[in-house]
Parts: sequence; structure tokens; C-alpha cells
Amino acid sequence: MMTPDDPESQPPPMGDNEPSSPSWLIGEVAATPAHAPDAAVEKIDRRDFLARATSVAMGASLVAVYGAFAAMAGRFLYPARPALKGWLYVADVAGFKRGASLSYTAPDGATVAIARPGEAGKVEDFIALSSTCPHLGCKVHWEGQNQRFFCPCHNGAFDPSGRAIAGPPQEAGQSLGKYPLRIDGGLLYIEVPLEGLPGPGEA
Ligand code: FES
Repeated sequence: MMTPDDPESQPPPMGDNEPSSPSWLIGEVAATPAHAPDAAVEKIDRRDFLARATSVAMGASLVAVYGAFAAMAGRFLYPARPALKGWLYVADVAGFKRGASLSYTAPDGATVAIARPGEAGKVEDFIALSSTCPHLGCKVHWEGQNQRFFCPCHNGAFDPSGRAIAGPPQEAGQSLGKYPLRIDGGLLYIEVPLEGLPGPGEA
């Protein structure tokens, strides 16, 4: 039988580095879920955060879908108007000799290379192609002796239809844009966008 003086019945002495709780109580303390409420709060916070994040993501998706639908509806209801075009004077046919070429600037600032390889006295004598190289934008010019349009920047070349036949534009399958021409009363006209021309009453 143990008495109060029996060393086995007394709690062990506490040292400097020992825990403040008596070692013989450690088992009991450890069994108590001291941080359980914090863990539960953390779990709820995480669930709440995930729920909010999901709501925000769904909201953003809906906004994107409705935005795309509104843009499509807008294009359907208000289609973009095609650029207004018109026929503008280029040159007197009699003064535009076979083999000659000129650079024409449209009202919208686009530059056009117009050449006359033919001599039949018809509009088919003339070619009008954009003079802006589709490769990197250098200026293309007509080479009468080679019957082609040439870009000096990287030796790009185009046939009279505008199709690339040499250089980087050919490798990329590019071509020069073609402009319609017509002859009326001995004068050569070109059809171009009229943007950039002053409107009625504008100086
Ligand atoms: S810019 Fe014309 S070939 Fe490169």
C-alpha cells in the first residue's frame, strides 16, 4: 500500500526544460482535441472560399457568353456597311503610252501602280495593282521589260494578275490587290474607296 511519503505516489519534480504540465497528465491532455474548433473554422472558411470562387467563375463565364451573343446579334442587326466606292480620273489614255506606268494615290491613302503593257486601245491594255508589297509593305513598281511588278526589298515579284511569282510573297502565297479600270471618252478611270474625299460642303 502506498502512502503520501511513498515517492511512487508523488508527481515527479519539474525541471527547467520540462513541460509545465505534469508528465503523468500528458496522456490525458493529448487526448483532448485542443485545436478542433480552429480546424473546423478553417475547413468552413475553405469551403466558403471555394463556393465563392465557383460563383465568381460561373458569373464571369455567363458574362462572356452573353457578351459574345450580344456582339453576334449586333453584327446581325447592324451589319458593317461596305465602303462607298466611286470612279475617279487617272489619266488621258492617249498620253499614257504603252510600257509606261504611274503611281496613283487613292483618297484613302492607298497607293496603286498602274501600268500599260498593251496597245489595243482598250481598257485591257492597263493594269492597276496595289503598290504595297504584302510581305513587309515596301513599294512595288512595274517592270515593262520583264512584264511583272517588282519589289526591291527582298526581290519579290508579281505577274500582271497580281499573283506572286518570286521571293517571300511567293513562298507565302501572297498577291497584290487589283483595282478595276475603265475608259470613258478617252479618259482612264479607276474604281477606289471614296473614304478620305471631302463630303458635300466640306473644303
Ligand atoms: S517587302 Fe516586298 S518582298 Fe519583302
